[in-house]
Amino acid sequence: MQKTDYVHRFEPAPPNSTGGTLLLLHGTGGNENDLLPVGRAVAPGAALLSPRGRVLENGMPRFFRRLAEGVFDHEDLVARTHELADFVAESAKRYGFDAKRVVAVGFSNGANIAGSMLLLRPESLAGAILLRPMVPFEPKTPPDLRGHRVLVAAGKADPIVKPDNSERLAEILRAAGANVTLHWSPGGHTLDRADLTAAAAWWQDG
Ligand code: MLT
Repeated sequence: MQKTDYVHRFEPAPPNSTGGTLLLLHGTGGNENDLLPVGRAVAPGAALLSPRGRVLENGMPRFFRRLAEGVFDHEDLVARTHELADFVAESAKRYGFDAKRVVAVGFSNGANIAGSMLLLRPESLAGAILLRPMVPFEPKTPPDLRGHRVLVAAGKADPIVKPDNSERLAEILRAAGANVTLHWSPGGHTLDRADLTAAAAWWQDG
């Protein structure tokens, strides 16, 4: 039994592939099944680890508590970030994947905890595809994100995340040494085909 267990799905990588592991993190109200098709489309050679958020907001799973839309319970975010990073490390032992080759793919609330993992537990991720993320918090001391690749996929018409917030997130990650690609879609706070095409191209370049 793992110390930190989540309801989750794990799909091993196809035989003979060397594709690393995607950590799939759904949005508010989602579950562990939501991003499996996205993971398969973006990185067909990767293993997939997909937990369900352990916080419930009116019955909707999330990865951490919030006080209002876009206003986070910072203490809970920090605790949940460590819990999730520990789960990834324990899952690497349990399923036998390389803990140094885990790339998060998070949407909305899932992207926000992935961003928080980059800031608080940079060793737990090699990189991240952040779909409609926002700044999870302003780090007091920048983490060392040299060698990390990050795709920030933002929407010009996103009513929840304003463009300057996406730009600030890219700036924080770059200042910490990450190699950041900021991709703009014309859409709002939902994914479109162009996001997936950009994510697959980013993955291929890695
Ligand atoms: C969050 O709570 O992480 C953000 O407001 C995004 C969302 O889940 O709607």
